[in-house]
Order: sequence, then structure tokens, then C-alpha cells
Amino acid sequence: MTKKSTHTVWHHASISRSDRESLHNHKSAILWFTGLSGSGKSTLAHAVEKYLHKIGVSTYVLDGDNVRHGLCSDLGFTDSDRAENIRRIGELAKLMTDAGIITLTAFISPFMSDRDTARKLVPDGDFLEIYCLCPIETCEQRDVKGLYKKARAGEIPLFTGIDSPYQAPEKPELTVNTQEQSLSASVEHVIKLLVQRGLIDDVRS
Ligand code: ADX
Repeated sequence: MTKKSTHTVWHHASISRSDRESLHNHKSAILWFTGLSGSGKSTLAHAVEKYLHKIGVSTYVLDGDNVRHGLCSDLGFTDSDRAENIRRIGELAKLMTDAGIITLTAFISPFMSDRDTARKLVPDGDFLEIYCLCPIETCEQRDVKGLYKKARAGEIPLFTGIDSPYQAPEKPELTVNTQEQSLSASVEHVIKLLVQRGLIDDVRS
């Protein structure tokens, strides 16, 4: 993206990220859920958020379908629109990380390079990529929103997995098999990762 805003000067906040993290009593980070439409990203992100909220962690879920109603309502599904979608979400998640919050993003984010760009916006270790692995056949069978049916009928062009690619992560911090694992088992895996990374305390111990 070409930067058009010139003559702008960065204003340094008097309250730092670590001040905000201290106030919240936990570290901030980005949990980046990626996977096909219908792979369970939003369901898992919201279930993890519910768990975290209960133990007093400040969270926010940025969800693909919702964000496309507002912040990204001007974007479609071409490769470049998807890149811009993910760029904006990456920047927003970065700000929320600075705000001391654990941000959970649920976007298909089909392109590796876009996800890597988002990863590089925050310090090493603050971006945890969680791959919601689910065969397209299962996503299509679930077809919660009826979109696969429409895409197969030619009513939705550039549908991910049909006529637009999905590049699976090569080294995600975590892969969750949403076809084989129950939702509660998947939540457990994510929470375990957060404990391992020192983002939250192990409340079970
Ligand atoms: S992304 O590719 O730019 O990351 P995003 O996660 O924001 O996509 O939006 C995906 C959601 O938009 C899907 O879950 C689905 O409900 C809807 N959608 C509408 N058109 C498409 C399309 N062509 N491909 C994929 N999802 C689509």
C-alpha cells in the first residue's frame, strides 16, 4: 500500500503497553485464527473468549463477517481486497495489543504472505497463528451460511476453496482439527498454548 499521509508526527503515549498490561494483570497478544469458511474459526474464537473473560482476561474478537459490515465494508474478495482486509485487521489488532488486550481474529486470511505481514507488525511471540484444520468436504457439508451451495451454483465468485485458493499455514503455533476434536477440546488446546507462552496463569493449578 502506498502511504499517502505525509507531514504526520508520531505522538508518544504517556501510558505504555506494559502499564496497560499491568492494569489488566496479563500480557496482550494476537490469536490469529485462520481456515476455510465453515472451519470453525469464529466458533472457536468466541468460545476461547468466553473462557478467558470468565477468568478475568480482557479480550476482543474481530470476526470476518462482522468486520466486513463496517471497517471493511468497502472490500470484496479479490486477492487484493483480501490483502487490504487482512492489512487493516493486522493494524487494528496491533493497536489492540498496545491497548493491553488479547485480540482474537477470525478471518479466512487465505494468503500466507498477508498473514506473515500481520505477524511482523508486532514483536516476536505476540502473534499466535492458530490453524483451524477442516477438510473442505466437511465445511461444505456443514454449510452453516448456505454459501458453499451458492458458490457451487456460480452465485458467489472467488469463493475460498472453490475458485479462490487457501494456503494452509506451514508453521502455525497451533493446529486445531475441528473435524475430529470437540469444541471444548479445541478450547483446551488454545488455553494450554496461552499458559505455555506465559500469557495467562494456569487457573487449574
Ligand atoms: S478473507 O479472505 O478476507 O480473510 P473474511 O474472513 O474477511 O475473508 O470473510 C470471509 C467470510 O465472508 C466467509 O466466512 C463468508 O461468510 C463470507 N464470504 C462471502 N463471499 C466470500 C468469498 N468469495 N469467499 C470466502 N468467503 C466469502
